[in-house]
Amino acid sequence: MNVNARPAYHFTAPANWLNDPNGLVKVGDEYHLFYQYNPSQPVWGFIHWGHAVSTDLAHWTDLPVALAPDAALGMPFSGSAVVDSGGTSGLCTESAASCVVLVFTHSGAPQVQSVAVSDDRARRFRLYPSNPVLPNPGVTDFRDPKVFFFEPTRQWIMVLAAGTRISFYGSGDLKTWQHLSDCVPLDPVPGVLEVPDLFELPVVNEPGATRWVLKFDTNPGGRYGGSGARYIIGHFDGRRFTVDPGTVPGWVDYGADFYAATSFANMPADDKRRIWIGWMNNWAYAALLSTGPWSGALTIPREVGVVRDTDGYHLVQRPAAELTALRAGPATVDLRDQPVSAGGLSLESVSGDAAELSLVLEPGTAGEVSLSVRQSEKQVTKIGYDQARQVLFVDRSLSGNDVLRDTLPARHEAPLHPDASGTITITIFLDRSSVEVFGNDGQAVLTDIILTADDGAGMHLNTAGGVAHLRSLRIWPLRSTVPATARAAFPL
Ligand code: FRU
Repeated sequence: MNVNARPAYHFTAPANWLNDPNGLVKVGDEYHLFYQYNPSQPVWGFIHWGHAVSTDLAHWTDLPVALAPDAALGMPFSGSAVVDSGGTSGLCTESAASCVVLVFTHSGAPQVQSVAVSDDRARRFRLYPSNPVLPNPGVTDFRDPKVFFFEPTRQWIMVLAAGTRISFYGSGDLKTWQHLSDCVPLDPVPGVLEVPDLFELPVVNEPGATRWVLKFDTNPGGRYGGSGARYIIGHFDGRRFTVDPGTVPGWVDYGADFYAATSFANMPADDKRRIWIGWMNNWAYAALLSTGPWSGALTIPREVGVVRDTDGYHLVQRPAAELTALRAGPATVDLRDQPVSAGGLSLESVSGDAAELSLVLEPGTAGEVSLSVRQSEKQVTKIGYDQARQVLFVDRSLSGNDVLRDTLPARHEAPLHPDASGTITITIFLDRSSVEVFGNDGQAVLTDIILTADDGAGMHLNTAGGVAHLRSLRIWPLRSTVPATARAAFPL
């Protein structure tokens, strides 16, 4: 394994294993990020809630673990956080504005839901002594509560993965929960359901309209095998989720490595964005990647939206605007308006393993236009647009890692059509061991781990089968946010 593969700006645990992001919540000026964490080994097990904090969604500071395994109730599995600003739970003795309640699964057996509370701006958490708050009703996989406050009924709502269903529970105080309804989001369910999220969003191109997004994950059941994230669009009335007529479940991400995303709670009233972060990995090979001192990374924070097009409502995602803070300076490549024909365009002067790339092109007569990244003599990752098939793609067949290539198909495609002016816009967040690719305002998104065997960092713009018109290509090197000191030892 190439020791330089540790992500430069994607979040990794101080050391060892990380999987799902948990309990994303904004408290005052701080964004809190918790995550499934094994502090002692680079593989899953002995799960804690790791914890980090940020004021800009780009730079994170590690804090001591928030939750540890409990002798009686088990490990703290995935869950969410809320700020109980109305004091409904009576759990906080200090200021309600910083009363942070974590609602999460204790691994059991059987799996049950528990709460923990902090009234010191999410620095220290204590378990509620009467846990669990929701016992197991006889369902083996009963986990990953996402809680939010539903204003019209003034009730807390818990969305939970419960076997082959998503279950909804309601509570007035976060401590006692009543079952409200169940929803079967996929029929049949190809694996176990995990990590649901539910939120309402304005429809970007339909003034006044809103829709609810129910996101859930399945393992297996991913687009290429392994694990994957799905969503359905509909309405939630405080009791029940109803799917929009004619809606079919969509893919959240067309790459292989986007899982267990969860969105921030308690965003300020003047910030209407819904921002989520996912685990950039796949259960098919997560334990096999052996990346040494770090094991598992999170995606960049992304803003989620709903748009309407001819065949219904769709989820779109784009990088959170704050990420421009990662740019090390002005663009080092800034090309405008030029034809690109056979042989492509040499970008010899640029190389990089951490960069933001923005490509705007008219495909013209070219069958395919692509950007090669992390290129060396032997390896390359290709990201491009295939005009004949009308797909945005990532091809990691030569990216250098046998485990990835041997476990799942290596070419990943997302349907994408040129916009009304005939252009395709591709935004890429490249890091040492991953690519996150956004096509046309996030209509098509692909997230893929790449684990190169060498330090190849070349870039090249390629065309095949004709002439494309490059409207612009800009590349910004991105800074590393990993502290210079090794993060190998961090106090628990
Ligand atoms: C999803 C998941 C959750 C569970 C957690 C355990 O990746 O399997 O369902 O709570 O990870 O670490």
